[in-house]
Amino acid sequence: MSSFCRQVLMSLMIICASFQLILGSSFEFQVGDHMGWSVPRSKDTKFYNDWASEKRFKLGDSILFKYRKDSVMEVGEAEYKQCNSTHPIFFSNTGNTVFHLDRSGYFYFISGAAGHCSKGQRMIVKVLGNDPFHPPSSQKSSSSATISSISLAIFSFVLLLPVVASVNFLFLSLCNSYNLF
Ligand SMILES: *[C@@H]1O[C@H](CO)[C@@H](O)[C@H](O)[C@H]1NC(C)=O
Repeated sequence: MSSFCRQVLMSLMIICASFQLILGSSFEFQVGDHMGWSVPRSKDTKFYNDWASEKRFKLGDSILFKYRKDSVMEVGEAEYKQCNSTHPIFFSNTGNTVFHLDRSGYFYFISGAAGHCSKGQRMIVKVLGNDPFHPPSSQKSSSSATISSISLAIFSFVLLLPVVASVNFLFLSLCNSYNLF
């Protein structure tokens, strides 16, 4: 095989592999971008929900909270609404908290520092399932979420395989007809 043909075939394989990587990859969002996790300035109590509503959170993504002299809590919906920090589901005050979005549906975050939540340091994150045929719901268990991500991987592979195969085939016949082998 000529080195030209070999190189093109190699590139096609790399393109195929990168597609698989993109489809299955996860992303880390920094909460509030450069603002980090703090009491929003000028009483902008919708700041974090505005930030979150502009993003598309997928199953498997994570969010990074950066803060000083503060904390982050995951709470239930009722606790979120009341800024009730007495029974958090999750708590961290390391200043650098990575939270993994391991199910689809809604996550509720508040600051654990006194008075911060009611000043707008709280956020709802909606996580989309990987399954394009089922919208997210808060009832979904993590095991069904795993199954749906596997089904998407198989679905995308089946979809991509004939495309890559036919491009490879076209290219091989092109190489053959020009006697490049
Ligand atoms: C806060 O939430 C807990 C349960 O998570 C509940 O027992 C408690 O009564 C709540 N406090 C207030 C002030 O609503």
